[in-house]
Amino acid sequence: MAGAGISTPSGIPDFRSPGSGLYDNLQQYDIPYPEAIFEINYFHHNPKPFFALAKELYPGNYKPNYTHYFIRLLHDKGLLHRIYTQNIDGLERLAGIPSTKLVEAHGTFATATCTVCQTSYPGEDLRADILESKVPKCPTCKGVIKPDVVFFGEELPQCFFLYLTDFPLADLLVVMGTSLEVEPFASLAGAVRNSVPRVLINRDLVGPFVYRAPRHNDVLELGDVVSGVERFADKLGWKEELNKLIAVETGKEWFPHCTVVERLNQTKQQVN
Ligand code: OAD
Repeated sequence: MAGAGISTPSGIPDFRSPGSGLYDNLQQYDIPYPEAIFEINYFHHNPKPFFALAKELYPGNYKPNYTHYFIRLLHDKGLLHRIYTQNIDGLERLAGIPSTKLVEAHGTFATATCTVCQTSYPGEDLRADILESKVPKCPTCKGVIKPDVVFFGEELPQCFFLYLTDFPLADLLVVMGTSLEVEPFASLAGAVRNSVPRVLINRDLVGPFVYRAPRHNDVLELGDVVSGVERFADKLGWKEELNKLIAVETGKEWFPHCTVVERLNQTKQQVN
């Protein structure tokens, strides 16, 4: 299970981190309260703030980081049953995780739908308008076309319900970079069997890891997500392999022995 915290090392802000999170930095969009930018009723009333934000966050501007490639390595090794992500940045896809292994629980910019006649469009069709700060309109009915990102007040995509069969089958659950504040996603953390170890790699203790007593087999790796994942990879003896994968995929070396700050700068340079 993943959230915005796995993409902050790629330069994308998360939502709720005080100061740096998106919800503390939306003043310029002139919205009544931060979450309005992702509320479907507000979008119908005024889609411009969402599209202004979409322009800034648009996929293509950011690159996967160490954490995404760790998930990719799990897949390459045949160990990834599924990744459930709340992220709409498309970085899991970019890291080479196939769509069959990916549940984008809060939707995607990859496809879009007219809010009036429900015609579907490839996300690419909206790119030019969004980047030119125009609200994309349906060529058929002139309705506003909305990327298939899930807003508050909308249903989650059908694939989310794969959790009903996926979670009982899991023999390890890794939870990374999420505050587990948004339902129904957050409750997935409780959907694995009690005997299944859960590894939380996150800056803070969150969700059921706080408000229910931690399970006896929970593993809490608190701190920077990249450091946590690196430690995990090290314990598994995969560090070199992961570094090689990243070097192949990005054409750049990952420096395993430098400090976290240096590593984050390295990721930022890769992003630039
Ligand atoms: P949040 O911003 O709520 O939580 C991000 C979590 O990641 C926090 O616990 C941070 O402390 C942690 N974090 C951030 N950067 C980190 C780093 N470098 N290392 C370790 N931990 C880090 O983001 P989500 O949980 O993804 O929904 O938010 C869930 C949903 O709320 C989003 O999908 C979005 C939002 O409203 C919709 O838009 C529908």
